[in-house]
Amino acid sequence: MDVIRLKGGRALNGKVTVGGAKNAALPIFAATLLTDEPCVLENVPDLRDIRSMVEIMQYLGAEVTQEGPHTWRIHAKVIGTRAPYELVRKMRASICLLGPMVSRMRKAEISFPGGCVIGPRPIDLHIKGLEKLSCDVKTRGGYVFVDAAKLKGGEIFLGGRQGSTVTGTENILMAAVLAPGTTCIDSAACEPEVEDLCRMLIGMGAKIEGVGSHRLIIHGVKKLHGVTHSIIPDRIEAGTYLLAGLMTKGDVTVEGARARDLSAFIDKLEEAGQLVQVIDDNTLRIRAANTRLHPVDIITLPHPGFPTDLQAQMCALMAQTPGLSIITERVYPNRFMHVPELQRMGADIAIEGPSAIIKGDHRLSGAPVMASDLRASAALILAGLTADTGETWVQRIYHLDRGYEKMDVKLQSLGADIERLNESAMPNDLKGEE
Ligand code: EPZ
Repeated sequence: MDVIRLKGGRALNGKVTVGGAKNAALPIFAATLLTDEPCVLENVPDLRDIRSMVEIMQYLGAEVTQEGPHTWRIHAKVIGTRAPYELVRKMRASICLLGPMVSRMRKAEISFPGGCVIGPRPIDLHIKGLEKLSCDVKTRGGYVFVDAAKLKGGEIFLGGRQGSTVTGTENILMAAVLAPGTTCIDSAACEPEVEDLCRMLIGMGAKIEGVGSHRLIIHGVKKLHGVTHSIIPDRIEAGTYLLAGLMTKGDVTVEGARARDLSAFIDKLEEAGQLVQVIDDNTLRIRAANTRLHPVDIITLPHPGFPTDLQAQMCALMAQTPGLSIITERVYPNRFMHVPELQRMGADIAIEGPSAIIKGDHRLSGAPVMASDLRASAALILAGLTADTGETWVQRIYHLDRGYEKMDVKLQSLGADIERLNESAMPNDLKGEE
């Protein structure tokens, strides 16, 4: 396995380009199963999660071929209807295959995704939605069995305890596009990634109204055709690099950062004292040499609220912002696995229920730390880039590879002292328990 070694203290300067959005690409890969015609996907990020999705789609019988570094061709002439635990457990997002199997094959058998370090990953709303589409859903032995012989459109309220569900909305959307009649999804998720899926489905011949809103109306069609679709840029990757520029007091321009996707994040940085320059529709810039930040309170919410996927990174920022900040997680209340590792670097953070109480009155120092999940890994690297003293060694960076393509290379291009090494290069006295 690899580790990342980095040394802080340098201001980052320059331009970096983000890749396609992981959380758009995954449901969009699944949506290619809705047609027996070939589809081509462009601007697909080169990530572990994409390769996991490819593996499970090939298991289902789809022909999946890589045509270029970020271009894939999928041809699902025929597909199976069973997604087994040994594949689904590798990546919870494979639950997105449920909707297309239901829609195309009128039956599906898929393993429950199981939980992960950021919290339980229930699918009760996915099941509720399918039942409202007249599917017969049974759960047994850790699997969901769906009989969709009577699939037809229906009225669905998809809001749950924590508000809307992203993959739940995507699954019901993909089940409804081939369902006879009209479906209304109320309290639908409206993340940009859901919007991108809607646009791809419309490109395949689906009839969807209310794209980008919390209320989607879908008129079922008999068949969908193939499509060529380019994935939107990854707003979470963009926000991460903007924070790298801010935290190192540098000057960083991010290509592929769309202000419309990051309005809550931009608003919060401005409240903290940092202006985010909108260069054009697709480019943002942060110049932080003279910035003096002040603490802010953040509550994560479904879009257009502050994105939970940037919460860990904001903890790293506020850990070095003088004063008291409170960051409250309303989407995944336990999503604070990054906190103990930030504390190893000297952060003064107390967890009170769904909130992190952060006192940011001193600088962090480098330390060996352990990545626990995708966004926590990014937060630890951001913290390491700004640590005044010492080196930071991040272990288990396979978590990072799930959602960030070549992050070390991109940060090196901005001037960071960072390198990816085989774990054998790590001094033994620094290694954490395996
Ligand atoms: C998507 O996960 C993203 N993953 C997550 O990104 C993201 O953090 C999350 O949405 C929230 O924005 C993909 O799109 C592949 P949810 P998803 O269903 O769809 C509860 C990353 O780091 N809920 O919107 O699984 C659930 O427990 C990942 O890129 C139910 O109660 O999230 C959570 O508290 C992490 N019942 C909340 O809703 C359900 O049936 C939001 O979950 C479904 C969800």
